Amino acid sequence: MNGLRIPPGIRIFNSIKDFRQWRRQILLDRQTLGYVPTMGALHRGHLSLVSAAKDACDHVALTIFVNPAQFAPNEDLGTYPRTLQADIDALAQHFDHATVLVPQVKEMYPSGIEPDVSKQVGAFVEVKGFSHQLEGTTRPHFFRGVATVVSKFLNIVEPEEVFFGQKDVQQCIVIQRMIRDMHFNVKMNICPTVRESDGLAMSSRNTYLTSIQRKYALVLYNALELMKEMYENTTKHAPTLIGAATEFIHKTQQEAQTECEIKLDYLSIASPSNLCEVTGDIKDGCIMSGAVYVGKTRLIDNFMVDVKL
Ligand code: PAF
Repeated sequence: MNGLRIPPGIRIFNSIKDFRQWRRQILLDRQTLGYVPTMGALHRGHLSLVSAAKDACDHVALTIFVNPAQFAPNEDLGTYPRTLQADIDALAQHFDHATVLVPQVKEMYPSGIEPDVSKQVGAFVEVKGFSHQLEGTTRPHFFRGVATVVSKFLNIVEPEEVFFGQKDVQQCIVIQRMIRDMHFNVKMNICPTVRESDGLAMSSRNTYLTSIQRKYALVLYNALELMKEMYENTTKHAPTLIGAATEFIHKTQQEAQTECEIKLDYLSIASPSNLCEVTGDIKDGCIMSGAVYVGKTRLIDNFMVDVKL
């Protein structure tokens, strides 16, 4: 962490052992710890999770760790925004105190971490049945990487409560299952998606967008809005809603043509209990979600309709 300016109120640990010593004292003082896992490049969405953790617990800890295990070899691990100074400055600006663990890859993955899953060695966590569909179709090993790193961090941080954003709804469902099935002793909180004033869901990857792409980045949000509006006013037939939203995206694609490339990855209306697609009328609420490439940036978003996780 050479050259890092640590603002008042911010405590940074680079080693798991030192962090654990700090955490142990909180336990001895009979106080509670709320935890926000992040990959850094903090935005208002992350800060809202820190706020929620502060409201619920005596102390808050974040981890900032760009987790190699959740990136496929063709993805953006190398270029993912790493903005540690700005991140801790933002924390200091918004909160009196925050503790941040910024571990090294070699300490988090003592057996090493090969980009190619078939060559990996060591312990990994998989949540079957919830990881292969939706995001998992395009990113088949993504949730294995997420579940693995979150389980490592839950073992290290041992928080009373952990905070995730609903924007990554499938991640929330995978982690909820993992916590339940592996008996992690932690309460999971899912906080609302924080959006820009025009509706775009906050994401660290939004920084990749050029100004033209930013204009078209609303295409997914607008497609989801269209499905929700039709569900509320016209029809609850899921394939009809998907058809209308797909057509909307194709129309926007044509309008954008030379200015900006838009590619639909998927649109889904799924049941929150098993993430299976609804094939007829939506009866017990649903998750409307999707992913769209705007230029090379892959954007995701979702609405929970008449359901709570
Ligand atoms: O949502 C994220 O930023 C990451 O997937 C997480 C939960 C920090 C794990 O690396």
